[in-house]
Amino acid sequence: MPKSEKFWDRLAKKYAKQPIKDMQSYNQTMDQTKAHLSKDDSVLEIGCGTGSTALLLAGSVEQITARDTSGKMVDIANAKAKDQQIGNTTFAKGSVFDDALGEQSFNVVMAFNLLHLLEDMPSAIRRVNALLKPGGLFISKTVCMKGQGGFLPMILPVMQFIGLAPYVRFLTSDELEGIVTNEGFEIIETGDYPASPPSRFIVARKT
Ligand SMILES: C[S@@+](CC[C@H](N)C(=O)[O-])C[C@H]1O[C@@H](n2cnc3c(N)ncnc32)[C@H](O)[C@@H]1O
Repeated sequence: MPKSEKFWDRLAKKYAKQPIKDMQSYNQTMDQTKAHLSKDDSVLEIGCGTGSTALLLAGSVEQITARDTSGKMVDIANAKAKDQQIGNTTFAKGSVFDDALGEQSFNVVMAFNLLHLLEDMPSAIRRVNALLKPGGLFISKTVCMKGQGGFLPMILPVMQFIGLAPYVRFLTSDELEGIVTNEGFEIIETGDYPASPPSRFIVARKT
């Protein structure tokens, strides 16, 4: 099993119990996202975690397909969907590269708190582009920690070595937006929720 999968599997139960750290920023992200969703949208969420966001947005769209590489996260998401009797979400273990995901089949692809964790970020965003219908939207939020100071860049390699942290990419909002644009998107909306360290909300349209 890849290291990252093991890390998130181990964390899943604890992650599910943790309250959202900054509710105001989360609500703002959800409101901004909902503003771009329609009742007939077919949506993909990658890195869905324990499913809270997909389940919250399920009533705003036709259906949500959700993938996470941690089987334990997916198990919790499936249990929550059953509990909440939400029938238009499908959670399964996998990544954006899952062969079962059809090209040009989604109106919207969402990735919240995921992109900085991907070692293959540009190719993942290229794949998001391929999965979207013409003119489809890629909605993401990503913490951008490059140049923010603090001790994390120094202690992270040690934490990673002992399995206490996953792979993390440090980048600025400008660098992130450059990668999204390079992979065939036009950025139509941005915001920072929260502002520090910037958690960059980006809505990008497939060009
Ligand atoms: C920080 S959590 C975010 C979960 C959720 N999106 C949220 O905002 O609460 C990151 C999630 O991404 C998943 N993940 C890590 N690498 C992944 C990949 N390559 N493809 C899909 N999911 C991945 C992890 O298993 C974990 O559930």
